[in-house]
Amino acid sequence: KLISVIMCGGAGSRLWPLSRAEHPKPFIEMPDRQSLIKKAALRAAALPGAVELLVVSNEALLFNLHDEIAPVIAPDQKLTYLLEPVAKNTTAAIAAAVHRIIAVHGEDATLMVLSADHLIEDELAFANAVNEAVTLSAQDYLVSFGIKPDRPETGFGYLQITDDKVSKFIEKPQREEAEKLVASGDYYWNAGMFCFKASVMRQELAEYCPAILQATQKAVALSGQIRLNDALVLRLAAEHFQDIEDISIDYAVMEKTRHAAAVACDIGWHDVGSWQALSEIYEHDNDGNAIRAEVCLHQAKNSFFYSDDRLIGAVGVENLIIVDTPDAILVADKAASQDVRQIYKALKQQD
Ligand code: GDD
Ligand code: MG
Repeated sequence: KLISVIMCGGAGSRLWPLSRAEHPKPFIEMPDRQSLIKKAALRAAALPGAVELLVVSNEALLFNLHDEIAPVIAPDQKLTYLLEPVAKNTTAAIAAAVHRIIAVHGEDATLMVLSADHLIEDELAFANAVNEAVTLSAQDYLVSFGIKPDRPETGFGYLQITDDKVSKFIEKPQREEAEKLVASGDYYWNAGMFCFKASVMRQELAEYCPAILQATQKAVALSGQIRLNDALVLRLAAEHFQDIEDISIDYAVMEKTRHAAAVACDIGWHDVGSWQALSEIYEHDNDGNAIRAEVCLHQAKNSFFYSDDRLIGAVGVENLIIVDTPDAILVADKAASQDVRQIYKALKQQD
């Protein structure tokens, strides 16, 4: 049995003012006006043989999530939300999903874990990659997806793949190391999606982080349940969840496990991590501008203009990012787009 899991947490502070605490990155719309979370749900619903979609998230996002997800789920698929009382990163989220899925579907169930904040342009190639991953997971591997890197990004994990097996997994290397890994031509980016049998992940969690495995088991067993239309909502028990270690699955398990395999794939994958990255997804005019707004431009070059309700006029500007939202405007140099998180941080301290 295949169960799709979507992990949806985190703030996305580099995409302020579009992403906020209660409107994080997965809710940002792509050029076709679909949000990333809606795209993830469509992708999950389309996986052949997926009997259920399990979304691991939190209370604050529940209704917004349901608005996006409920309309796109396949009629014969169950929809379940697992809500965390506090965000404890992806190891706790995955461990909780594993316990819930073993309880409902048994330990031979296969999980296909998706992130809520990726853009995948080639859904057909993605479906083929998942097929390969499911085959490998049946041989008791934890399967990652490898993407050919085009820059020494330090925000990703790196995989060395030898005969379908992961011979090395390096999460978020320093700049210098990332440059070496990319130059070697030997490494792929970890796409942040995983496929495995529930029993295999449970065994690896038991080996590398038994405390997380135990605490999440209690949090799931003692969770409270309510219905939300046709969906089921489980609230994880706070007393067993709040002291769990905050660590991502990449550090906790993927770097250490001896049972890692990977599917190298070319699926048009993007982790839309900054305004610069988002602007690249939009079509560009002859002056290199990406535009999602009504604009009036005079000698404006290589800039990004974003507004859903106002006209933007710009004269003699270059390499700017201008984002207009109802209650905040961002003006940034494109080259500094990673540092937009500083604004998010500063504003958070003021609240
Ligand atoms: N439910 C829940 N709870 N979801 C979470 C939590 C949490 O505490 N923390 C993160 N998530 C979700 C995010 O919303 C996202 O969909 C996914 O898990 C991955 O988390 P990120 O925080 O975005 O991870 P990352 O981007 O730094 O790194 C991961 O993804 C990269 C590719 O995008 C790693 O797997 C890297 O190795 C990988 O290259
Ligand atoms: Mg991410």
